[in-house]
Amino acid sequence: MANTIVIFGASGDLTSRKLIPALYRLFQKKRLPEGSQIVGVSRSHFEHDQWRDALKTSVKKFAADCFNENTWKEFASQIYYHAGDITNTEDFISLSRFLDSTEPENNSGRLYYLSTMPQLYEKAIQQLGAAGLNDDANGFRRVVIEKPFGTDLKSAQALNQSIHSVFREDQIYRIDHYLGKETVQNIFALRFANSIFEPIWNRNFVDHVQITVAEEVVVGRRAGYYDSAGIMRDMFQNHLLQLMMITAMEPPSRYDAAMVRDEKVKVLHSIRHMTGGDFASDTVRGQYKGYLEEDDVPAGSETETYAVLKLYCDNWRWNNVPFYLRSGKGMSCRTTQIVIQFKNVPHILFGEKTREPLGNRLVMQVQPAEGIQLHFETKVPDSEMKTRTSTLDFSFSNTPGGKSMPDSYQRLLLDALTGDASLFARSDEVELAWGIVDPILAAWRSPAAPPLYRYETGLWGPPESSEWMYKQNREWFDVCPVLS
Ligand code: BG6
Repeated sequence: MANTIVIFGASGDLTSRKLIPALYRLFQKKRLPEGSQIVGVSRSHFEHDQWRDALKTSVKKFAADCFNENTWKEFASQIYYHAGDITNTEDFISLSRFLDSTEPENNSGRLYYLSTMPQLYEKAIQQLGAAGLNDDANGFRRVVIEKPFGTDLKSAQALNQSIHSVFREDQIYRIDHYLGKETVQNIFALRFANSIFEPIWNRNFVDHVQITVAEEVVVGRRAGYYDSAGIMRDMFQNHLLQLMMITAMEPPSRYDAAMVRDEKVKVLHSIRHMTGGDFASDTVRGQYKGYLEEDDVPAGSETETYAVLKLYCDNWRWNNVPFYLRSGKGMSCRTTQIVIQFKNVPHILFGEKTREPLGNRLVMQVQPAEGIQLHFETKVPDSEMKTRTSTLDFSFSNTPGGKSMPDSYQRLLLDALTGDASLFARSDEVELAWGIVDPILAAWRSPAAPPLYRYETGLWGPPESSEWMYKQNREWFDVCPVLS
């Protein structure tokens, strides 16, 4: 079956930086389903060739390593542009006619990609419905929605309701680009394609879990959006909780969208909601020094650019095992890593002659040094019984095909085209995630909010965060990955 990818917000940054380069790479690898065409929609007026030329410039920049004039020509011949305003019903009717004119009769699937401002999602969906563009009698009709999906539980519920009045849940693909990362999918492989990890992946062996998404960059020109979102909406409600779900979930019976998402949702159901004093004892808030001087940041803003949550899953597997979720901008380096910290040995055999072993640790490096390290104790050679920590180190870059990891959008676009929703967020998932985050945000905006620590950029967030960990007899794994 032929198919059309209709991109709303065609003149935006995401389209030129991510979507078109990803589609071009898929085309080059011959993985884009045959007969696929792309139609860009936005308010500006372009001729087809003008838009193709603009895209060529961005593909040359963002897919520089694989750009080739011949394949570009072939790819570009399947790209079209149709000017249209999301608020104008007539424009959807003319879009519908245009699509009919470019597609083989009665035989084309359509993927509507909403890469617009989030305030327009609802309008766009309603217009698609009003123009009959949701009718899937002659081919699939799917809609891809970028984050943010709402700004709190109430708005996410309203958005879900509005979308469900036009599209069925199985037609809706809510993007969280973290799920498109190869190394995030590798967590499934590590956990469920091996028999050695699963037996120890529980409260009997694991002391705690650390999930860190550290970014070296600061807010920069995005402050207009960022100041009202803050790190909790920008990173925790989606990316951090997604990483936690995949780390904590039970094995599904089959690797399919319904079963994978059922298991993930069970994790969200099991997360203990914070109440009373928990907001002060189990969270840390920070803001980097200099944030208030960024353009568009209102004077005296208390928006967090760093946060830590200590969460618990109230279930058999994870009873009383803390999950520390941490993210920050202006950190020491860019690294996303999940650390499974195992319990210490029950009895220290080597007495005072050696330091106390730290316990074994499994580090899943999600980015940028994609890999896995297992830390364990070995004897220091030619010593008395002294031990030190050694590392078994797996790096994707040393494996065939592992040098250049595909960008998340390649995987996610392909899955949406082929109808695999495993790596997309379901409506209940998004709402439950807001249900966890909302009370924390409310507590942080209340007079009883815990202190907002200011921190220097280029370090690991506020020193108070490290002290908070020490008080729990634990330590952050503050290690920048070595890039090979
Ligand atoms: C986005 C956030 O969702 O993820 C950004 O809005 C953040 O603030 C980005 O920088 C991080 O994504 P990645 O893939 O670079 O880790």
